Amino acid sequence: MTLDIRVGEPTGVTVSPDLWGIFLEDLNDALDGGLNAELLQNGDFQYSGADQPGWGPLTAWQVRSDSVERVAWAREEDPVHPNNATYLRVTGPAILSNEGWSGVPVRAGQGQRLRLFARAVSGSGELRALVRNGSTELTSRAVLAPTGEWAPLEADLAALSDGRGALEIEVPAGSIVDVDLVSLKPLGGDGEPRLFREDLFSALKELKPSFVRFPGGCLVHGRGTDSIYGWKSTIGPQESRRPMPNLWGYHQSMAIGFYEYFLLCEELGATPLPVVAAGVCCQNALGGQRAVDDADMPRYTQDVLDLVEFANGSADTRWGAVRAELGHPEPFGMRYLGLGNEDEITPQFRDRYARIEDALRAAYPELTVIGTVGPFAHGRDFDRGWRFARERGIDIVDEHFYRSPQWFHQNADRYDSYDPEGPGVYLGEYAARTSTLRSALAEAVLMIGMETRSDVVRLASYAPLLARTGHTAWVPDMIYFGDDEVNKTASFHVQKMFSVERGEQVLAIDAALPASEVIEAKAGGVTFIASGGSFVFDDVAIDGSLVAIGALAAGDRERAADVDPRAALIEFTVTRTAGERGIEVHLGEPDPGRALTLHLGGWQGTSTAVLLHSDGITDDESDPTFWTGFRTGDPVRVRIETATPRVRVWVDGVLHHDYERDLRPEKRVVAGVMAREGGHVARFVNATSESRAVRLNLPAASATATVLAGDPDQGAPDEAFPEPVEVPVAVTGEGVELTLLPWSFTVLTTRR
Ligand code: AHR
Repeated sequence: MTLDIRVGEPTGVTVSPDLWGIFLEDLNDALDGGLNAELLQNGDFQYSGADQPGWGPLTAWQVRSDSVERVAWAREEDPVHPNNATYLRVTGPAILSNEGWSGVPVRAGQGQRLRLFARAVSGSGELRALVRNGSTELTSRAVLAPTGEWAPLEADLAALSDGRGALEIEVPAGSIVDVDLVSLKPLGGDGEPRLFREDLFSALKELKPSFVRFPGGCLVHGRGTDSIYGWKSTIGPQESRRPMPNLWGYHQSMAIGFYEYFLLCEELGATPLPVVAAGVCCQNALGGQRAVDDADMPRYTQDVLDLVEFANGSADTRWGAVRAELGHPEPFGMRYLGLGNEDEITPQFRDRYARIEDALRAAYPELTVIGTVGPFAHGRDFDRGWRFARERGIDIVDEHFYRSPQWFHQNADRYDSYDPEGPGVYLGEYAARTSTLRSALAEAVLMIGMETRSDVVRLASYAPLLARTGHTAWVPDMIYFGDDEVNKTASFHVQKMFSVERGEQVLAIDAALPASEVIEAKAGGVTFIASGGSFVFDDVAIDGSLVAIGALAAGDRERAADVDPRAALIEFTVTRTAGERGIEVHLGEPDPGRALTLHLGGWQGTSTAVLLHSDGITDDESDPTFWTGFRTGDPVRVRIETATPRVRVWVDGVLHHDYERDLRPEKRVVAGVMAREGGHVARFVNATSESRAVRLNLPAASATATVLAGDPDQGAPDEAFPEPVEVPVAVTGEGVELTLLPWSFTVLTTRR
């Protein structure tokens, strides 16, 4: 049966022209080892144990020598620049080699620029360099002649053949040489070294983003006030930039700093959307949220104002002149600035935020400042953040959520209840967990909802954007890459399909879209899991009947009597006998069904949370609450009571969770239609296993449809998801007709 979609008048909502953007954070090797075109790793010898235990100045380097003496050692006296204090002193004969991330790639026809700082301590110090794989020379050789003073030396290496190898720098016998800031970059068509890795840059270009958020994410506010991201130490000559440990467990060279970020925006045709810390560090830092000292606030606030001047000031302003000096006299045209990231909304946050925002408003009234409403889609900080935003009249606030596909389908209409009078929303980070088509379709459902209510949602960016396969500190991601490949996920295709075909005026639609499933946890066993140590369970009662569980060693699980998770009472005493963390209790059938899961001693051993476990994905149903955690040898009494829709959990008599389950149906078939100059754009998600014929009363001279479809469980981080395809659309006197494939996302464009 054909589904009739009656398209009506404009709803009055104009789609924000900046709606679809990208989020760029140096996470998962996204920049160093990713978008940064640099081919060497640890070229500045700045790696240290603070980046990762066991790392040091010689990480990623090898030193070969005929001599039995130590020939290369790290020094810090009299460096090229104090911000890059560590360098290498090498006694020849020796060969220094660096394989980059997994071999330095050489492509026939593409030369490379070698640049390093060197100083001859004794002897001629003449250095010879090339990229080689065993006995195969992949590039020509370069000769670099240092003097007795630190100086940058450069040479181009011509590619001799395709391959992967290591950069080798030979220090001659009889010489002692200091070496630092070694860099090797592929040359672009203009004969200059590239800034960005070409294939990743073109993937970003394909997305046609309206804006680029940078530098994150968590990276913005750091794990302490001393690791708040400071834009000023990321510009200028590389030797003066201050590299630092990356909070995702590696090293940031800052080679893609704020100037390169603005250039990236320009090259992508996107507006910059930098985010700065709101004068507080992350609340997950050891010791909790801390604020920039009162005495330091004027300096901190001035740094934020200076960033705007660096981006937008004319070349005769102080920071505009710095930008001009770096090679860009024209302003970058920054219109948005994010203030804060997922912060706990505390009095000190409010105070610091207000001081910085007041200064910004006074100096740059035309700038749109974006506030923050905590890390979750709801809850304490979300409510406090929204209240604060309304009180202050903040322009736009930044919401974040990473949830299950089910949650996205249930929240398709999330923004319908928001007040279009403001503040507006920037959905700055979102993703449906997993890299499958199922998740991408769930994201598309929410994106149709955002577009339809773009009077509320002004900006949105999926997160995270880039991840080196095998180096992921966060999944899912939109684009996974290796040395030679760029794997575009189903989510990438969805993002692109929204971004490349945009509508202008939202049109009302009237359609009997098929009713969707109501989600419930399924009846099944109660499973006790000793996930974080060994535990003894006593006095276990399930729906009033005593059950024997006994002792579980780390990793053990025990399935007890069946319960109906909609109405259950589970009580037990649990004592940790060894280990550091806690336990899980599943109510109902886990995979492939749906179970409610209590985590006791989850996050760093000191929280309790209730999750819905569904189709291999877990979703916080009730956000983590703080708990002192297990103490080995001390019994803990737990009571879990469900009476649909209410769920309550007590730990040692304290009520930790009391919430109502979200039992709204999932919207699995969703449509949105917009008018634009010369025609229409319509989007359809069919997240069901049936194909559906649809008819729209859209007058059209021609129409085309692009479809992303497949198996809902297809898609993994190390695979590219098949590209969308075009499908036929029938144009009749009445309108257009097409078939929505099972598990598909379709974008229809018509011309009048
Ligand atoms: O996108 C990954 C991380 O998720 C971001 O850094 C942070 O803001 C969020 O918690």
